[in-house]
Amino acid sequence: MADLQDADDLRALMRDVSCGDDNMLYEVDEIPQAWRLGRIISENSLHDIFVSHIDDVLVGYAGIWRKNTRRIQHVAGIYIGVSKDFRRRRVGTSLIEHLLGYAQRNGLMRLELRVSVRNLAAINLYRQVGFEFEGLARDAVVVSGRKIDKFFMAKITQ
Ligand SMILES: CC(C)(COP(=O)(O)OP(=O)(O)OC[C@H]1O[C@@H](n2cnc3c(N)ncnc32)[C@H](O)[C@@H]1OP(=O)(O)O)[C@@H](O)C(=O)NCCC(=O)NCCS
Repeated sequence: MADLQDADDLRALMRDVSCGDDNMLYEVDEIPQAWRLGRIISENSLHDIFVSHIDDVLVGYAGIWRKNTRRIQHVAGIYIGVSKDFRRRRVGTSLIEHLLGYAQRNGLMRLELRVSVRNLAAINLYRQVGFEFEGLARDAVVVSGRKIDKFFMAKITQ
């Protein structure tokens, strides 16, 4: 689990991951400030962020967030990002597996996400750990004037 001291590095990593990547929801200048990430880490019981380090360098993050209304309290959304310098080393896989374990321990029976139809790396990763396609969100994002569809994907964890 991330702690408050990770906030600056986490922001820098989120910026690195988003930079030049049309598949990401946030543009670089929209990444939350470190103090806002710090608040999520320390105060928001509905939103947890896990981080991965290699040799003391923060190389990946995975978030899980939920709402506290009773009928959907078993559902959580997830997101993930790995440093461009550390991809294809199973960092993403181990972060997602960690999220799956966390979900199972905490009664989060359904994990869901939306992913750009062009984001082959993420789609392959999600499918490898058991996420399935549930549908298509048409024109879900507009990137540099181009409309892009997103897949709905989800995994039932228990
Ligand atoms: C998607 C992402 C998290 C994958 O992280 P990673 O640590 O490189 O992934 P892993 O090394 O654990 O790879 C696991 C599997 O994902 C798939 N994968 C990862 N990178 C891939 C690529 N560039 N092209 C195709 N498949 C890829 C493969 O199936 C891989 O398994 P394999 O190595 O046995 O072939 C990373 O590319 C990333 O941060 N992308 C930008 C952020 C992003 O798109 N987040 C998701 C938004 S919904």
